[in-house]
This record gives sequence, C-alpha cells and structure tokens, in this order.
Amino acid sequence: MLLKTTINQFNKVAEEYDFVNTLLNDYSFFMFNLPLHRGRALDVGCGSGILVNELSSHFDEVVGIDISGEMLEIAKAKRQHPNTTYLNMDAENLIFDRKFDLIVSRTTFHHLNNIPSVINNMKKLLNDGGKIVILDNVSEKETPATYVYILGAIFEFIPHLRKYGLKNAIRIFKHNISKPWLEHLASDKYISEKQYYELYGKLLPNCKFQRMGWAMGIVFCMGKI
Ligand SMILES: C[S@@+](CC[C@H](N)C(=O)[O-])C[C@H]1O[C@@H](n2cnc3c(N)ncnc32)[C@H](O)[C@@H]1O
Repeated sequence: MLLKTTINQFNKVAEEYDFVNTLLNDYSFFMFNLPLHRGRALDVGCGSGILVNELSSHFDEVVGIDISGEMLEIAKAKRQHPNTTYLNMDAENLIFDRKFDLIVSRTTFHHLNNIPSVINNMKKLLNDGGKIVILDNVSEKETPATYVYILGAIFEFIPHLRKYGLKNAIRIFKHNISKPWLEHLASDKYISEKQYYELYGKLLPNCKFQRMGWAMGIVFCMGKI
C-alpha cells in the first residue's frame, strides 16, 4: 500500500479511531510482557498514543512514532507527559541514535511493505535483555469482505450498549460502519496463523506466539534476560 494512502486514511478516521480505541481496546498483552530493565521504550505506529500513555508510567522515556499527522496531534494533545515524545517517522525508516529496552507495535505491521527490513532494524535498536512485542491482525482470509465488518458492528452493538451506554454505543457503531473506516479495512491485507509462524519465526528466533482471537501476539527477547 502507498504510504500516502495510509496517511490519508488514518488522518480521516483519527478522531473517531481514538474515541473507539480509548473505550474498547485492551493493551494488557504489552503490560504482561515488559522487560526487566525499563529505561527507554519505542511504540512503532503509536496512533493517538494510547499505548505510549500506558507505558509512560513504567519507563524513564517513551517515544511514539507514526506517519499520520492527525493521530500524532491527538497523541500530543491528550497523552503528552514529561517523559514522552511523539515523532512523525516512517516505521520503514527508523532513525535513532540510542537504543531501547522495549519496542512495541500494535495493529500496524499489516501496513508495512518490508517487514523483514523493519524487524532487522528493530533488532539493531534493541538493548541486550530488551524485548520486541508485536500484536497484529491474523486472518485466514487476506482481506475479509466488508459485510463481515458490518455484521460484526451489528452483533457488537448490544454488548457495547450494556457496557458503555447508548450514546457511546451509537458512536462506536457509526465509526465501525463509516465509509472511510470500511474503505480502510477493505484495503488491509492480513496474514494467516501459519504465515506468522513462518515469517516471524525466522526473523525473531525463539520468539513466543500467542493467538488472541483476531490478533496474534509475538514476544522476542534479545540475548540474556
Ligand atoms: C490501526 S492503527 C493502530 C494505532 C495504535 N498502535 C493503537 O493500537 O491504537 C495503525 C497505525 O499505524 C500507523 N502507520 C501505518 N503505516 C505506518 C508506517 N509506515 N510508519 C509509521 N506508522 C504507520 C497509522 O498511521 C496508524 O496510526
């Protein structure tokens, strides 16, 4: 996918994406997999900074990078702390002069064109004893049909209503079936569980995989822990 297209898509949905993810998403996989030494952390594709915010109370310094200006604006407005930095940077061209103890990425890797190159750069940027923790979509169908997402939004409405109230449930539903979000999902390309084991198993030797419904979690430890 062209970088410009991805930037435009996320700029369009940034506000509603942030609203929905602030309410719904569970970042606990990352919190369960923190490294022992908690100096510096990097979030690749940080979006509106939800995970950066979570990590900021566990690390001396947290850097979030993203290519969507709108996402970064929300992150800076809502989730800026003295120890957090947000940068407009492409994951395919990570440039840092200091290493990290943790590099995380959530639901971003399926947007990348050259995963082996990104992973190899991440490994170079990782301190000994550091961890790479990735969570991304897994699907036997490369691009699920749009009606699947619409049906999902309908089925989730009542549980969301019970949990978050009518106003929030309507806003979540509207985002999930909105034209820009469905257009974005229709351009996503996911890999299967088997492809995860093949690709990441080679790039991150001895990494651990954890299947969590629509998501696959990967944890890699560099050197001795
Ligand atoms: C589905 S959102 C996930 C945001 C955040 N990680 C979260 O879980 O809330 C994917 C994010 O990846 C960013 N992204 C896509 N391609 C990227 C790239 N090449 N470099 C940096 N960020 C990228 C998008 O702008 C978007 O903010």
